[in-house]
Amino acid sequence: MSNKTLLAIDVGSTSITAVIAKNNPDGKINILGTGTSRSEGINKGSITNIEVASKAIKKAVNIARGSTSEVIDSSVISISGAYTKGLRSLGSVNVPNGIITETEINQVMQMALYNATIIPEYEVVHVLPIFFKVDDSKDVENPLNMNGSRLEVSVYIVTAKRTALTNVKSALKAAGIELTNFVLDGYASAISLLDEQQNKFGATVINIGGTTTEFVSYKGSAVVYNGFIPVGSNHITNDLSVMLHTPPNAAETLKIKYGNLLKLSDSDELSIKKVKIPRIGDEQSTTEVSLDHIQTIIHARVEEVLVLIKNKLKNSGIQENIGAGIVITGGMSQLSGIKELAMRVFENIPIKISNPINIKNGYMNFDDPTMSTIVGLLFYSLYENRTFELDSNKNLMKKAVKKEEIPVSQATKQTVVKEEKVSENANTKEPLEKEDTTRLPTLSKKDKGRGMSRFWSKVSEWF
Ligand SMILES: Nc1ncnc2c1ncn2[C@@H]1O[C@H](COP(=O)(O)OP(=O)(O)OP(=O)(O)O)[C@@H](O)[C@H]1O
Ligand SMILES: [Mg+2]
Repeated sequence: MSNKTLLAIDVGSTSITAVIAKNNPDGKINILGTGTSRSEGINKGSITNIEVASKAIKKAVNIARGSTSEVIDSSVISISGAYTKGLRSLGSVNVPNGIITETEINQVMQMALYNATIIPEYEVVHVLPIFFKVDDSKDVENPLNMNGSRLEVSVYIVTAKRTALTNVKSALKAAGIELTNFVLDGYASAISLLDEQQNKFGATVINIGGTTTEFVSYKGSAVVYNGFIPVGSNHITNDLSVMLHTPPNAAETLKIKYGNLLKLSDSDELSIKKVKIPRIGDEQSTTEVSLDHIQTIIHARVEEVLVLIKNKLKNSGIQENIGAGIVITGGMSQLSGIKELAMRVFENIPIKISNPINIKNGYMNFDDPTMSTIVGLLFYSLYENRTFELDSNKNLMKKAVKKEEIPVSQATKQTVVKEEKVSENANTKEPLEKEDTTRLPTLSKKDKGRGMSRFWSKVSEWF
């Protein structure tokens, strides 16, 4: 395991968070410094002013640097799905020595990338395996050290508009930061949230921030889709400000203090409660507005965001396969009643509101939904025990082999069992056919009936 010092930066539209960290010898993440700054020059996931954004990034990074003298070896930054496109591809290679090593895994991933039709003005950010196939055994999760003569892979590729990436690089360069890797915001959030159970069955992770909503769908432990909507919690503030003629800071306070998506009953005292708010242009005078009215405005916007996500998932074919549930994070997930509203919108798909896995340290509270992306960036870069994948430099990220990892023969058996249990895998066609669409085939009725009821009861246990 590397013990290099990492600088991770989450460039959100509300705030910028920088963390300097490295791995302790025991494998735990050691936070050396943290810094935050108010976000400027960034809107809806894109850099709108390089100079201003660069200053804001530099401020957060300098605060983090203030608490450590360690030299930074590499840096990683989150990028928004605002300017990404996802596509699928396939690769296959011969295994000359009969045993699969990292060389063949790298070759097959590079081959899948080579076979993909990437739009000229786009660059690769991630090449993520959906499944490997060794000779005739399908759905191999980790082919390392397996015996076979042919290795195939099906991948999900995330690409991003070159100009948008160049703007991020320029802003970092102006702040004196050498960039190493880009990581998709939604993917980072998912890494920070999903536990082993969810990773086994798959889930859709939705990060609703200030001006963006990013989501990533997993099928089993593989990413199969990523999406984006340019709407977030700031839109609620804006709606309240415009409709109630109150300044944005008063609208933000109303949202945080009184935001509640659970319908108040008529007998509830709060339903007749009135709140005094300042008026735009004449802030000395106040008007009274009913709590019920405030909550109706908030409810309308949140419902709209959730319906937009649902439609995106539906149009990409993901919703048919979503069975494993939805995990919501990001600043807006703190709104009371969002779980109940999401359950209604997504028609009883299990919903969980989640904070990132807590990495305890004395500097910053990471047990907070606005920290999902930054925690994911740390896991992405410092934990090696994940999938084999190509990073934004097209380098293979290695998977650390754990001692308790299953031996070759058992590993093959296990994948067969898994296939029987969750038989909705869209990619069990044979032979592998090239697919360049992100639309997933839907579950057949027969398949749904067979494995799903057991699967559903399992899923409901942990949501
Ligand atoms: N209790 C709450 N209810 C609703 N919204 C909230 C609450 N607390 C914070 N927020 C909102 O969460 C947003 C900040 O969340 P977050 O830090 O996840 O966004 P960001 O990462 O900066 O933005 P983005 O991801 O869109 O670029 C702000 O709009 C803030 O008003
Ligand atoms: Mg964010």
